[in-house]
Amino acid sequence: MATFIKVASQNDIADGKMKEFRVEGKTIVIANTDGEFLAFDGICTHAHCALVGGYLDGQTITCYCHGAQFNTKTGEVLAPPANSPLKVYNVKTEGEDLLVEV
Ligand code: FES
Repeated sequence: MATFIKVASQNDIADGKMKEFRVEGKTIVIANTDGEFLAFDGICTHAHCALVGGYLDGQTITCYCHGAQFNTKTGEVLAPPANSPLKVYNVKTEGEDLLVEV
């Protein structure tokens, strides 16, 4: 059953930045996009590069390996070579804490 797990504090991730976390054996990136925290799988669906090394522009993450782009809110593929969408996770805040549903 999915549960929310505390992963970080809001202060840990500045606006426009992202960080990678290991949660329950998964690699998850949380991005702060204009104060909205979005969590998504940290591994590119194309060839397994770490997305935290990529480029974040609003709700678009670009993988540094081969340039695939994903929407960080929906996981939708925006540009090839990735074919499969990125898994995204629900995030909620409790005070300063950021919790991710895994
Ligand atoms: S591993 Fe991300 S685009 Fe190839």
